[in-house]
Amino acid sequence: MSTTSTMSTMADRILIFDTTLRDGEQSPGWSMNLDEKLAMARALEKLRVDVIEAGFPAASPGDFEAVQRIAEEIGASGATRIAGLCRTTAGDINRCWDAIKVAKRPRIHTFLATSPLHMEVKLRMQPADVLAAAVRAVEHARSLCDDVEFSCEDATRSDWAFLVEVAQAVIEAGATTVNIPDTVGYTVPHEYGALIAHLRANVRGIERATLSVHCHDDLGLAVANSLAAVGAGARQIECTVNGIGERAGNASLEEIAMALATRREAFGGLTTGIDATHLVPASRLLSRLTGVAVQPNKAIVGANAFAHEAGIHQDGVLKNKLTYEIMTPESVGLTSNKLVLGKHSGRAALRDRMKTLGYELDDASLDRLFKRFKALADKKKSVFDEDLETLVADDAATRGEQPFTLDYLAVSAGTVTIPSATVRLKIDGDVVMAAGFGSGPVDAVYQAIQALVAPHMDGIGIELLSYQVSSVTGSTDAQGGARVVMSLGGEEVPGHGVHTDVVVASALAYLEALSKFVLRRRRASGAARATMAG
Ligand code: KIV
Ligand code: ZN
Repeated sequence: MSTTSTMSTMADRILIFDTTLRDGEQSPGWSMNLDEKLAMARALEKLRVDVIEAGFPAASPGDFEAVQRIAEEIGASGATRIAGLCRTTAGDINRCWDAIKVAKRPRIHTFLATSPLHMEVKLRMQPADVLAAAVRAVEHARSLCDDVEFSCEDATRSDWAFLVEVAQAVIEAGATTVNIPDTVGYTVPHEYGALIAHLRANVRGIERATLSVHCHDDLGLAVANSLAAVGAGARQIECTVNGIGERAGNASLEEIAMALATRREAFGGLTTGIDATHLVPASRLLSRLTGVAVQPNKAIVGANAFAHEAGIHQDGVLKNKLTYEIMTPESVGLTSNKLVLGKHSGRAALRDRMKTLGYELDDASLDRLFKRFKALADKKKSVFDEDLETLVADDAATRGEQPFTLDYLAVSAGTVTIPSATVRLKIDGDVVMAAGFGSGPVDAVYQAIQALVAPHMDGIGIELLSYQVSSVTGSTDAQGGARVVMSLGGEEVPGHGVHTDVVVASALAYLEALSKFVLRRRRASGAARATMAG
């Protein structure tokens, strides 16, 4: 079968398979808790991705719960397919199915390595055994679910003839999507395009399956490789918001979507279902949830992506934007970000602004947001859209009762004094106070909080694994965002806080992580507040 004739019979729609919550989230630095994953999944739904890979259910009970909740909530309408990843063992596949089966359109995504290196060193399996395991897994998955994807891990370092054999066998076994990952970001565009064309031309039955690509960015080529593969006949691209993922990351969703939208003619008229006006909000939400900002010069979503600094450029843009802009900021969801609401503005105006930003709020959420908006407007001259998005994300992450809340905080620090802090907390309604010293004001605050909280932790040690601060908006009265990851009883718990004072934001982040941990333990044991020590 020639590539040209195959191309002409293929659908002109590219499926966008988002793996932010699986390949992105699984790498250190981007972990999210359940509420954060749900908030991100809602943003992906608004973006209208075709598939959300919600996680790896067999990896941990937490992963299972997150995938199941996303399948329940986002998968209910059937607009978005919900996928779970699993190895080829029956146990993994069953666990994956249990997590996703509530979705209207579930997908089991199973994978096994096909490169000589992985088969020999990692799997210690012969190629024939890998082939048999792949077929067995797909048959088992298909006995549970109509939609089954098989990935040939490390495909770009695999023997092409073996790939043809595996792809053919899994399609015969019932795979509806065959994915060809560039697991280690090793391939280059012309080579990857040739591999995809080779598979299209040589795999019997390929027209019965969607050929998918999944690229990592170790050589900075993930997007270029994905697009080359599309030119050669791939019809699903796996990617992540902000390009987060293992090592150098995965192909960036926003770059793929806008390359295909802006240069549609260069790809023979192919389209995606992405609503690009949600790209910037989704990117910002992810940064907010993970505490990892995108670099300013990042394509599409970076702070400078639509900024024109050079005089000649500014002059050209003022005469006609097309001189230096190939897409409009509005088309990717970057709206003029000054909120013309002040502290005297009402609920209706806030609801209206949130709607423009893509948030339909119910009355209870609006009430909560309105209170926080008012408190912020009292402290800050201008409230920007980013500030509002931060408040919404914060609300999503902290909704529910917090056992530890900040009541009062004062610090003394500088070049000539030992940093000290006085902290008053409400712990389950009781007011307690302590002072602490530290190497800096934040350390002093954390010492004081630890002293107050320790008696309520059932002997579980409190360890701070990482701490980051960032500015939510640009000016000196910007809100500071703080993000911590704590180790509590062997569990990694993230927390974040936002305030116009970064020391207060840091205290809020610390308390949020501790509160989430204690709440989770209470829920797990079904114990009431009274059962806590202290
Ligand atoms: O990079 C990779 O190979 C993967 C597979 C599990 C799809 O993430
Ligand atoms: Zn991957």
